[in-house]
Amino acid sequence: MKHTRSPHSDLPIRFEDVSYNANTIPILDRINLVFEAGPPTVLIGPNGSGKTTLLRIAMGLLTPSTGQVTWGGRGVHLTAGGGFVFQRPTMLRRSVGGNIRYALKAASVPRALHDSRIRELLTLVGLAGLAERPARRLSGGEQQHLALARALAGNSRVLFLDEPTASLDPAATKAFEDVIQNIAAQGIKVVMSTHDLGEARRLAGEVVLLHRGQVVETGAALVFFMSPLTLEGRKFLAGDLLL
Ligand SMILES: Nc1ncnc2c1ncn2[C@@H]1O[C@H](COP(=O)(O)OP(=O)(O)O)[C@@H](O)[C@H]1O
Ligand SMILES: [Mg+2]
Repeated sequence: MKHTRSPHSDLPIRFEDVSYNANTIPILDRINLVFEAGPPTVLIGPNGSGKTTLLRIAMGLLTPSTGQVTWGGRGVHLTAGGGFVFQRPTMLRRSVGGNIRYALKAASVPRALHDSRIRELLTLVGLAGLAERPARRLSGGEQQHLALARALAGNSRVLFLDEPTASLDPAATKAFEDVIQNIAAQGIKVVMSTHDLGEARRLAGEVVLLHRGQVVETGAALVFFMSPLTLEGRKFLAGDLLL
């Protein structure tokens, strides 16, 4: 959780001709993208299209093979900023509040602010009242909410989520999406991937469609879902873009 510093000016996140190869296999191919302040950007695309790799590069966890990524005009470094939540978060063997306190410490938030910040974050993610509960006793859905609170502990203005609802049932998914909308409404930039078209429809302000490591379509979600501009976009919406 020490990736959650530098609160402002991490945006826009800009990909300039970013390619990524694993050994010699091309995984991402000349990606040009800008993530700006505003409603959530949702990465969609078939399994294996490069969503996770793109997110990891955006967070600075992977370095592009060629091209560059900048955050607010500066180079990415591991402590750049941005909280993140993956599909299966790991909870520390502590209380719910203790998990957040740990993240606050890691983000160098002054101790005197911890208690009020814990209350604020728990309210934001819909876990008010559960501070004393052992984190590992929470349901899968509640653990995802706690993971969100931890990711936001350092006051990050950007939140990355990689298929965060993949293991949740429909009710827990809905609850999680409500929290994402709350977070976005606070002005935090959400960049997330999903394989769930319904979720993309519900959350996205902007979509990025990946196919075989390339961005094939990007734009306002309303436009994309009404009339995609590309053949791949039309196929994807029809459930016909499988690989
Ligand atoms: N380190 C790696 N070595 C080899 N292949 C990889 C590596 N990381 C990802 N890939 C491959 O790159 C492609 C994109 O993967 P990923 O970014 O996980 O896609 P997605 O998240 O859209 O399913 C997949 O074919 C995957 O198998
Ligand atoms: Mg993935």
